[in-house]
Amino acid sequence: MENYRKLIMVVDDSISALLVAKDALSDAYKVMTVPSALKMLEMLERHTPDLILLDVVMPEMSGYEAIKILKKNPRTKKIPVIFLTAMNGVDNEIEGLNLGAVDYITKPFLPSVFRKRVAIQLSAESGIALFNHDDCLQDRVTARTKSILGFQSKFLKAIVELVEGGNGYRIESGRPQHCLGPLLSRMNSMDSYKEQTAMWDAEILLYSSQLHDVGKIITPNSILKKPGKLTVNEFDEMKSHVPLGVGFIKKLEEENEDDDDDIRFLQYAEIFAGFHHERWDGSGYPNGLMGENIPLLGRLMAIADVYEALTSERPYKKAFPHNDAVRIILEGRGKHFDPALVDVFEQVADRP
Ligand SMILES: [Fe+2]
Repeated sequence: MENYRKLIMVVDDSISALLVAKDALSDAYKVMTVPSALKMLEMLERHTPDLILLDVVMPEMSGYEAIKILKKNPRTKKIPVIFLTAMNGVDNEIEGLNLGAVDYITKPFLPSVFRKRVAIQLSAESGIALFNHDDCLQDRVTARTKSILGFQSKFLKAIVELVEGGNGYRIESGRPQHCLGPLLSRMNSMDSYKEQTAMWDAEILLYSSQLHDVGKIITPNSILKKPGKLTVNEFDEMKSHVPLGVGFIKKLEEENEDDDDDIRFLQYAEIFAGFHHERWDGSGYPNGLMGENIPLLGRLMAIADVYEALTSERPYKKAFPHNDAVRIILEGRGKHFDPALVDVFEQVADRP
């Protein structure tokens, strides 16, 4: 489920190795860096990662010793472990795999290959989880989801009321999901996306999409409602709604880190808030990311957000008709927007 930020724990006594791994993975995953196996065991009492990348040669406790402890503990024995080490040789690899590791990556590695092997492993684990589910488990999941959505609805209502009352700006809270919903449902039936969408919880995802502009809570009305063009300084202040929104959501994540379900809602929201103004050609903000370096959910929200903005009335413009909004989004294919997602949008946009 990489697009709602699976958690990967990287354990290595080398700071540079931790930084290299974090750099390679943090666009798509939540990465927790841990400097020793002993520290990892301590962290595992509070966190349940989806994958552990474990160095073999470390002082105090080696990776081989550490995995034996993990595999004996019912709480940690199912967490997949990939050994990550400068050692090489078939014997080392076989020893690591015999101890229960699912893969063995030698350093130095190419970041693109490294990311792919991690993604394959996480995708394989999701497949196992899906095949192992039973009806009883599914019932429990459904009941739990209903209760989370109850919390989220109240939470969102409170946020929207705060925004409306606080500065008069209204978050069009129902709109992004009206565009995202058909996009997701179309992607679900496409070979190129169905593996990805099968790992998302569409209902929670659509609820969380309403938080993409939450950072605008503290953007002044003089900017939000300015009828004319923004000055450079005003535009900079407007752009700050992205880091402010991400910071707000991250704070909630810290306070809810023990609840896997609530954290998932917030992780989706963090991606929507953090990446919806990035552009496919790298001209967006806040980080100027290009192409597939922008998480898929961010690329999706870019389209939904612009469609919503175009078809809504704002103090500085009238609402565009549906067909004009569609034309403008098609013109942004490969520039503002992911070309493949624009093709999906075109397929679902023929019904206003
Ligand atoms: Fe925004």
